[in-house]
Amino acid sequence: MKASAKANANIALIKYWGKKDKTLNIPFNSSLSVTLDKLFTITSVEFNKDLSNDIFVINDSIQSDSEHSKLSLFLDLVRNRAGINFKAKVISENNFPTASGLASSSSGFAALALAATKAAGLNLSPKELSILARKGSGSASRSVYGGFVMWEKGEAGVDESSFATQLFDENYWPEFKVVVVILQNEKKDTSSRDGMNNTVATSPFYNVWLATIDEDLKNLRNALKNKRFSALGETAELNCLKMHATMLTAKPSLVYWNSQTVELMKLISKWRAENLEVYFTIDAGPQVKILCLDKDLIRLQKKLSELKFIQNIIVCSAGSGAKLI
Ligand code: DP6
Repeated sequence: MKASAKANANIALIKYWGKKDKTLNIPFNSSLSVTLDKLFTITSVEFNKDLSNDIFVINDSIQSDSEHSKLSLFLDLVRNRAGINFKAKVISENNFPTASGLASSSSGFAALALAATKAAGLNLSPKELSILARKGSGSASRSVYGGFVMWEKGEAGVDESSFATQLFDENYWPEFKVVVVILQNEKKDTSSRDGMNNTVATSPFYNVWLATIDEDLKNLRNALKNKRFSALGETAELNCLKMHATMLTAKPSLVYWNSQTVELMKLISKWRAENLEVYFTIDAGPQVKILCLDKDLIRLQKKLSELKFIQNIIVCSAGSGAKLI
């Protein structure tokens, strides 16, 4: 009753921000992401009748009580489905900083969903796995697949209605790159979950955000279909800024950026004016993900190498979906 899986993190180009069903983790809006080839989680799960408690070791450290209970509840979903009651030992490693706005929960829960179901003797379809991973973390529903992925919002109260599907696989657009710029490695103060719940409850801009999503999704899907990079970049950057506008106007205001995030955002606009075709997207943390094509990568890397405040740069292409290893 043991299995291991690897899942890549994904970055949303059209963001998920807000839950209309907190129990089933069903979002207010559909979202669209790209799975990345260089940021991943490897997780092994062993169900064992001799264990009296679940044990979680993530990046070599035993988990806190709150993290532990969230993960145990997720394993309960798998245990109930498989009709077993054994506790599990879970060992998980990310190859990048955890909980700092680098989508560790997307790869984390996708890898856990796959390893745990396999270890419990279940063989879920990708769609079933996406539905299950969603209940661990919304963005994890997308990491089940490689390439460009759409997560359909579905209906509140209807578990099977909300899942991800692949739009284009990881080989579709080899020139497309996401340059992940790490500005800070510390864990963030406010989780995405708390941040989005508070935004939904208090931001006067939340409904405006929701009203613009369908158009953003349409534009982004068209841009992808025709490989029109400028349209993709413009739509993704604006969507990111709109999401952050809802956070900035929440009560209390939620600012995931630091001063270097803002400096880099301004530089990216400036570089674009100088004909370097780059766009940014930012999630619930200070890190900046720069979208570009191969033709501009060397010039971009040179510019970034001159910025002393950058801690690390990871150049990613579209990566594959979750797999057993
Ligand atoms: C800003 O998937 O981490 O990265 O469902 O509560 O676990 P939970 O939230 P999570 O939120 C991700 C938010 C985001 C945007 C996105 O990935 O779409």
